[in-house]
Amino acid sequence: MLINNKNISDELISKLISDIKKKKELSPVKDSLVQEELLKFLKQNTKILERFLKEKAEKSKEYELAVKTIRSTLRKLHGAFVMGVDYKKASEMISQGKIDEVMQMHESTKPRICVYQSLYKRIFSITGKPEVIVDLGSGLNPLSYNHLGCKPKYYAYELSANDVQLINLFFKKSGIDGKAEQKDLQNDLDLPKSDVCFMFKILDGFKMTSGPKFVEKLITTVDAKFIVASFSTATISGKRMRYPRRLWLEKMCERLNYSIERFEMADELYYVIGK
Ligand SMILES: C[S@@+](CC[C@H](N)C(=O)[O-])C[C@H]1O[C@@H](n2cnc3c(N)ncnc32)[C@H](O)[C@@H]1O
Repeated sequence: MLINNKNISDELISKLISDIKKKKELSPVKDSLVQEELLKFLKQNTKILERFLKEKAEKSKEYELAVKTIRSTLRKLHGAFVMGVDYKKASEMISQGKIDEVMQMHESTKPRICVYQSLYKRIFSITGKPEVIVDLGSGLNPLSYNHLGCKPKYYAYELSANDVQLINLFFKKSGIDGKAEQKDLQNDLDLPKSDVCFMFKILDGFKMTSGPKFVEKLITTVDAKFIVASFSTATISGKRMRYPRRLWLEKMCERLNYSIERFEMADELYYVIGK
């Protein structure tokens, strides 16, 4: 396979993909997705790419580093949250109205269940109650609609077709004026206008894979009065991060002349950005 005009053997690429996926929680991730992240990584890390052209590449510390870094990117982007959701069971539960139980199945919504009402109260005390919400990389967050405390039109965009299907089922069963659509935000930023745009737990992953310029493009392109971006304050092992603030985002907003307020709730740091 040609990467930056260097020919890396297909065997090495296959071995890397299979080693990356050896962690149980990453085994369901599609090979094509792992390969995509691997290629991006190797294009940016030329020293590692050079080492992979030499002998015994699979025994090198560069190999180990590549496996570790890509695992961490995948966890951020597609990790635990796509795992563990039994979509067949979840659809049945949606039909039975057991919405909170479905949100319990998803790593991102689970810790918010107890705080959703206070969370939305806090957000809307800054933004005002929205008439239109756009939720990007939504996961199952739109299932929290009934905790919003208002009835906005709700647009959700998500890469996972399973999530999209589940959300649309929920909207239909609950008579909500909402629509979920499958979209790869890294390639398509054609989005409707909104009062509030949620970017919950997506920006760390996008920054890692597509760089801070892409995050800036996303933030500046989105046609919303307010953006609410959230970040985990816990490490993968569950300990509190020593420096949870995302100073890069704070500085970006300052440079763009956007207002920014932050607060923490249930191991999550929220930034409410006014455009
Ligand atoms: C950490 S989860 C957060 C889910 C949700 N925002 C929440 O906090 O409850 C990240 C989500 O982003 C989605 N995602 C990752 N890359 C994406 C892309 N390029 N376009 C759209 N969604 C993406 C994943 O499928 C996953 O559902």
